[in-house]
Amino acid sequence: MASKLVLTLIVVVLVSLFASSFSYSSTITKSPYSSSSLPSSQKSRGGIAVYWGQNNGDGSLIETCDSNLYEIVLLAFLVQFGGNRQVKWNFAGHCGTQWHPCTELQPEIEYCQSKGIKVLLSLGGAYVAAYEYGLSSPQDAKNVAKYLYDNFLSGGYGPLGSVTLDGIDFDIEHTDFYWDNLAKELDTLRQPPNKRYYYLSAAPQCPTTPIPHLDKAIKTGLFDYVFVQFYNNPNSCSYSTLTGTKPVLDSWDKWTSLLPSNNTLFLGLPARPEAAPNGGYIPPEVVKSDVLPHIKKASNYGGVMIWNRYHDVEADFSRKILPDVPKPATNALVQSVSDAIFECVSAALNLN
Ligand SMILES: *[C@@H]1O[C@H](CO)[C@@H](O)[C@H](O)[C@H]1NC(C)=O
Repeated sequence: MASKLVLTLIVVVLVSLFASSFSYSSTITKSPYSSSSLPSSQKSRGGIAVYWGQNNGDGSLIETCDSNLYEIVLLAFLVQFGGNRQVKWNFAGHCGTQWHPCTELQPEIEYCQSKGIKVLLSLGGAYVAAYEYGLSSPQDAKNVAKYLYDNFLSGGYGPLGSVTLDGIDFDIEHTDFYWDNLAKELDTLRQPPNKRYYYLSAAPQCPTTPIPHLDKAIKTGLFDYVFVQFYNNPNSCSYSTLTGTKPVLDSWDKWTSLLPSNNTLFLGLPARPEAAPNGGYIPPEVVKSDVLPHIKKASNYGGVMIWNRYHDVEADFSRKILPDVPKPATNALVQSVSDAIFECVSAALNLN
């Protein structure tokens, strides 16, 4: 019994040493390829992702990241790009009126990253007539990938200052072509000899046959995170008081079998009814009792995506469900490392 205790203490010390050299989630932007040998599902799993930038009621990025609710913050949106259009971004009144750069966001983005929160730039968003986005050819996809890389992923100066974002999100709700090309081009730029792995994510609508706009892109398997929008969509894949949770859970099961195991799947939810005028809001107590227990069982479960920070500020939805949303896999990884060390030491000491 006593030797077991001593052994446990040794293991705890070893594990904490090991864990401190393993804080890759907070250093991913700085350490070239430190974690590239791990499957991306291990790097990216877990927690709540939130869209920020479509309403001043979001509060600042600092406040958002200091809420300790989120693992991923998606900057929404780059609203105009592709086809040689002038690139435009819209972050509501936060910054960037008249297409002035939003360089004041740079320190806030870096603050979030220093806390281990991943910050991605989201492309597209719900289509509005004021802006236009879309790709015109494979070459156009290549040009847009290079633009995104140079301006947001390389540390070079761009509309958000000299940031090194953690990745690019495809919230594509308009036009159907060459998004797979864009994903492939961005994937090429995160592979050696380039220095750094970054994430690709997508936020498709919930129908699966076909997946609106992103069918071919999703099927490349290149998205580390897939944030499925189970709201503002047909009742056949979203919640209503009439049908209950069955359509959401059935659709979730289709998604889990559609994606390869290294693409982590997030349940995309509106933070309150006003966030989804066309339906799909699920009260937090129903999410906790009927939805999370089911979806957590999927091997490629990643977490919950919330639309959006402003509505979450108003409704405090994330805080209500957070205890039931499993933590990121850093813990699971450290746990499995600790298990492995325990087994080695036990074997060496012949305790097993
Ligand atoms: C998932 O694995 C496949 C096969 O190894 C690979 O081609 C793809 O890039 C991986 N996707 C991610 C997001 O890592």
